[in-house]
Amino acid sequence: MEDRSLGRGRVSVPVVGLGTWRRLEAAAAAGRQDELIEAAIAAGIRVIDTSPMYGTAERLLSDALDGHRGQVFIADKVWTPSAQEGAAQLSRAVDWYGGLVDLMQIHNLVAWQAHLPMLEAARDRGLVGLIGATHYSPAAFGELAEIMRTGRIDTVQVPYNPDHREVERTILPLADDLGLGVLLMRPLGEGQLMRRPPSPAQLAPLRPFGITTWAQALLKWGLSDPRVHVSLTATAQPGRLAENAAGGSPPWFGADERAYVLRLATAG
Ligand SMILES: NC(=O)c1ccc[n+]([C@@H]2O[C@H](COP(=O)([O-])OP(=O)(O)OC[C@H]3O[C@@H](n4cnc5c(N)ncnc54)[C@H](OP(=O)(O)O)[C@@H]3O)[C@@H](O)[C@H]2O)c1
Repeated sequence: MEDRSLGRGRVSVPVVGLGTWRRLEAAAAAGRQDELIEAAIAAGIRVIDTSPMYGTAERLLSDALDGHRGQVFIADKVWTPSAQEGAAQLSRAVDWYGGLVDLMQIHNLVAWQAHLPMLEAARDRGLVGLIGATHYSPAAFGELAEIMRTGRIDTVQVPYNPDHREVERTILPLADDLGLGVLLMRPLGEGQLMRRPPSPAQLAPLRPFGITTWAQALLKWGLSDPRVHVSLTATAQPGRLAENAAGGSPPWFGADERAYVLRLATAG
């Protein structure tokens, strides 16, 4: 796999990142939010994704990053139909993350025509590093392709796992053609794919690739596609971060190993 980076060299990719949807608030409910973020950083996780859609996650993350902000690449979002509220969301994020949001994404493409000029102006002022767009639904991939083709965004965030491969049709080839960064959401199928883990004997052929658990196999499956840069997985459990981060280290799977993981996932 060629050497690539995200954010003007701040993040070497491909790499596992941490998602905060529901799980950071779950960790906070147990009083473990700071421990979770510290464990992520200790495990080498350098990309953390959040959104105003995720309740109090942005603020929890900001508080937990006290003293660690320089070690992580923050991927936040605007999520509102209102241009005025979009600007307010960006302003809050800039305050929370020390004057810079490394990547600001338009969540679910909501009002993207209104938010894009505001984000471009913020990028010109040095408040935003990269601009991106996200959507979870294949029904919206036509519109996602439209914003990609404007040449005005740097990244997309889309779901990709053995049960959901719709991005292989247009989004991944287009991102590759345009040179866009690709962040994956739902690499473990929101936990659904973890309900039917293969046996240790079934995972044994993946051992030479550093794989000891099913979560690692699924993370490496996505990241081994050369068009992918970051796989965002979420957990509320600090003890899982080192395991998950290890799914983002070489050696990468070839076509045979990817096909094997697909067979394991669909046979479960
Ligand atoms: N833009 C969008 O529309 C959108 C939509 C969805 C998600 N996202 C982003 O993508 C991130 C990831 O998506 P996701 O939350 O669906 O993630 P996921 O990684 O596919 O699934 C997370 C689930 O897997 C479990 N899990 C994590 N590590 C595990 C392990 N090693 N062994 C067993 N179970 C494990 C977690 O439970 P525990 O907490 O118990 O470990 C959690 O229930 C989100 O947090 C968010 O940042 C964006």
